[in-house]
Amino acid sequence: MTKPLVSHVGIAVKDLNSAIRSYEILTGAKNPVIENIESEKVKVALFSNGSGRIELLAATSDDSPIAKFINKRGEGLHHICIYVDDIEAKLGELKKAGIKVIDETYRTGAEGKKIAFIHPQNLNGVLIELEEK
Ligand code: CO
Repeated sequence: MTKPLVSHVGIAVKDLNSAIRSYEILTGAKNPVIENIESEKVKVALFSNGSGRIELLAATSDDSPIAKFINKRGEGLHHICIYVDDIEAKLGELKKAGIKVIDETYRTGAEGKKIAFIHPQNLNGVLIELEEK
């Protein structure tokens, strides 16, 4: 079966527990998967209904990229995550096209998936995360 284009939407939040309560009501999905990603200094709550997903991101430290994002731009849409077949190939293709990447090579994200971030500069102001299918 073909996966959808979008893996998930990431939303930066100040108070994870409070955001979880609101998004439980919104999505009707209870008990999101909670993951503490120490390398990113971020705690994630992932809501899923079996196809679309919403990822709430809260900082676990003042120097977390999420803390910096919220200080600069406030809470809100942080990134859109797109599925790709081959993440190394896609990173190469983007770089070749002059699209600025943040990660030169993939890293391991939530749920042990291969991910990489692409700079908003050449993507109309939207931070994009790639996730290998
Ligand atoms: Co994400």
